[in-house]
Amino acid sequence: TLNPSLLKSFHLSLFCSSDFPDLRKHNNCMAAALTPAIYAKLRDKVTPNNWTLDQSIQTGVDNPGHPFIKTVGCVAGDEESYEVFAELFDPVIKDRHNGYDPRTMKHPTDLDSSKITNAVFDENYVLSSRVRTGRSIRGLSLPPACSRAERREVERVVVTALAGLKGDLAGRYYGLGDMTEKEQQQLIDDHFLFDKPVSPLLTAAFMARDWPDSRGIWHNNEKTFLIWVNEEDHTRVISMEKGGNMKRVFERFCRGLKQVEHLIQERGWEFMWNERLGYILTCPSNLGTGLRAGVHVRLPKLSQDPRFSKILDNLRLQKRGTGGVDTAATGDTFDISNNDRLGKSEVELVQLLVDGVNHLIECEKKLEKGQDIKVPAPITQFRK
Ligand SMILES: *[C@@H]1O[C@H](CO)[C@@H](O)[C@H](O)[C@H]1NC(C)=O
Repeated sequence: TLNPSLLKSFHLSLFCSSDFPDLRKHNNCMAAALTPAIYAKLRDKVTPNNWTLDQSIQTGVDNPGHPFIKTVGCVAGDEESYEVFAELFDPVIKDRHNGYDPRTMKHPTDLDSSKITNAVFDENYVLSSRVRTGRSIRGLSLPPACSRAERREVERVVVTALAGLKGDLAGRYYGLGDMTEKEQQQLIDDHFLFDKPVSPLLTAAFMARDWPDSRGIWHNNEKTFLIWVNEEDHTRVISMEKGGNMKRVFERFCRGLKQVEHLIQERGWEFMWNERLGYILTCPSNLGTGLRAGVHVRLPKLSQDPRFSKILDNLRLQKRGTGGVDTAATGDTFDISNNDRLGKSEVELVQLLVDGVNHLIECEKKLEKGQDIKVPAPITQFRK
């Protein structure tokens, strides 16, 4: 007679190997990390919210990737995903974050904006300054996994907390499903509005479900502190203004974040955070600080120089077009921001951006005067 438990495990392993996704054409971090052995081990595990490995990797299975750019290829459904599926997420994180090892390394958090120096840029070059991050509410599933009730709870917790902001941070919330035509047009004109995700990277990660239920935008009356609710993360927090005063932008960013955290804690909630991964967000690429500090900067001469890309690489900066992540960099003006998120603190990343942008402006000025420039030595990502 057949041993029933042997038969069961035989069936399981048979299903499992015939379920392994075809990743032969794939070029993303998930596909590079996922082996049949890891898949077999994790396939039947669930997080406390019943989120599975297959759900985490669906976006990377359905989107083989770009021939030149390496996408991440997996998302977390909840905070526990990073633990329960660590055998997949750890190598993905290491790959995406330049060797940061989440098993052995600790991520520093530092939101003391007074430490930043030289952060008021020459406004002949810098047109606007911005810092953004994300925060997730502990105990509620992340956007790929949340139920409608959880998504509504995120909105309720966040909007209730934001109503407590005072002074220059006081503002109001606009629900995507509730706003008037006039309000919508104003948000479009201010470039504050976000749209229903159409990118297959996001829809294959289940992030457009029930749109626009519980999505919305909060901003202060001065339009310098902005929070997106239930887009790709529970919250995206943005501080920005015209001109080159990154010092003031980062000061407002840190102060606003701390006040929002305090207001959320007063009501018994907290942000997802741990010392190995920093702040927990939906996409592994945003772990750590989740921070992108950037400027729109005019560099007509430097951008024509063949060394421009190398200089940016060595300063650990990235360039984008000024129309957002999917736009090509054209013309004279570039969106320059920090490359790294994890392994360095907020203060370190903003200072790195500041020093880098000052360097770029110096190069631009030298080229204007017909002087030569040097490519700076590469900055290493982690302190020894
Ligand atoms: C997870 O699934 C199990 C089995 O179907 C069920 O009993 C449990 O209530 C589910 N948990 C959640 C949080 O949905």
